[in-house]
Amino acid sequence: MSAFDLAPGDDYRGTGLRFPDNFVLGSATASYQIEGAAREDGRGPSIWDTFSHTPGRVWNGDTGDVADDHYHRLDEDLDLMADLGLHAYRFSIAWPRIQPTGTGPANQAGLDFYSRLVDGLLVRGIRPIATLYHWDLPQALEDAGGWTNRATSEAFGDYAAIVGAALGDRVATWTTLNEPWCSAYLGYGSGAHAPGRTEPASALAAVHHLNLAHGLGLQALRSVVTAQTEYSVTLNLHVFRGFGDGAEEAVRQTDGLANRVFLQPMLEGSYPADVLADTASVTDWSFVRDGDARTICQPLDVLGVNYYSTTGVRLWDGVSPRQTDDGHKDAGGSPWPGADRVEFLRMPGPYTAMGWNIEPAGLEELLVSVSRRYPSLPLMVTENGAAFDDEVVEDPTRPTGVAVHDDDRIDYLRRHLTACHRALERGVDLRGYLVWSLLDNFEWGYGYSRRFGIVRVDYDTLERIPKDSARWFAELARTSRIPA
Ligand code: NOJ
Repeated sequence: MSAFDLAPGDDYRGTGLRFPDNFVLGSATASYQIEGAAREDGRGPSIWDTFSHTPGRVWNGDTGDVADDHYHRLDEDLDLMADLGLHAYRFSIAWPRIQPTGTGPANQAGLDFYSRLVDGLLVRGIRPIATLYHWDLPQALEDAGGWTNRATSEAFGDYAAIVGAALGDRVATWTTLNEPWCSAYLGYGSGAHAPGRTEPASALAAVHHLNLAHGLGLQALRSVVTAQTEYSVTLNLHVFRGFGDGAEEAVRQTDGLANRVFLQPMLEGSYPADVLADTASVTDWSFVRDGDARTICQPLDVLGVNYYSTTGVRLWDGVSPRQTDDGHKDAGGSPWPGADRVEFLRMPGPYTAMGWNIEPAGLEELLVSVSRRYPSLPLMVTENGAAFDDEVVEDPTRPTGVAVHDDDRIDYLRRHLTACHRALERGVDLRGYLVWSLLDNFEWGYGYSRRFGIVRVDYDTLERIPKDSARWFAELARTSRIPA
């Protein structure tokens, strides 16, 4: 079968399907992508400040200096969430607001901001889901080696204790890391993300130190938080589609690097032997010390899963030009250390504005397969959504005088929510779904050129304009039924 024979089915249009009463429907954002106020109230520089201010790294030279100015528009954004009837809001805490250089005493102004955010959510009846690390590492820690340095994992434990002590009485769910795959492989392997390094061995050292940070972070949180709360981590687990004679082998290798290298230490307390063997020519993994695997494997109450599309792989014949379309911008290095024989194929469409293929069946399969492997572990879709080239049209019936008829986004959300519903019907303990994203925002290497929000942000005026998808999502949140 060629990659291009595989067309996604048209049977994921579950209008009217109802989610259980306690199923959480909300939205997600991340600090650097929305906050702005990059130099205010004692915030230190992060690797994304440095990276985005380095010419050639981010589309159009965009930076997060202002972003959505959420830092100054907190109350307006909280009211917006309340208007949409969100059950939950997933946000991240900027480490350099709490510890400007990554170590040392807490910056009270930073803690106060997140405290106001959490209180503002609670008074509006919205459940706070806090992520400790969504990629904005304090630059001072990167200067000392960043995620290649074990000291960064230890510093993360101290940071987690500070935040846990300050907010632990009110946060409903704690998430240690967001998508460590991106931090390690795009940050240190391909160089498409900050800090922009292209060092295969460093990418694997970063994998381990992120895993270790997760374990140390959970230990630290549990030592200071006394309230009844949930502990979690969010992974962007990949769904691979194998092609050609070596399909199974291509999937085994990439599944090892992308999925099992995080899941197995976190949930089973060991590294997959085949991944260590596959990457032996890149590193000897001597950065893993005795006892680390035990530290990484801490009890989890829920696993966060981010899903956008599938990834096509096959074994390279070693002769034809090698294909590398893994859906992530290649900045020169490979995000797949050790998988030198794997090709990444462009999957069949339709595509979003990211060029990512739309395949809701992948989400259903992912949820089912993770829950079969770890049957007692509840799951939550902590991100799913799509960038499209939205158009603003005049509409005097809307409060803002304009509208965004983003039917393509609604269609995407409908299909993926249908996939979630199917997973529930197949027995998956799925607790909720959070749309990425509440607001259009800084899409990393793509700057402001890609819009994922259900609410449009006018970057000239910073005005918020709910798109049709926001109205659609509000109906979903109100009725727990997939709207038409
Ligand atoms: C995953 C990341 O967590 C988020 O920051 C990003 O904007 C979305 N995917 C879309 O690429």
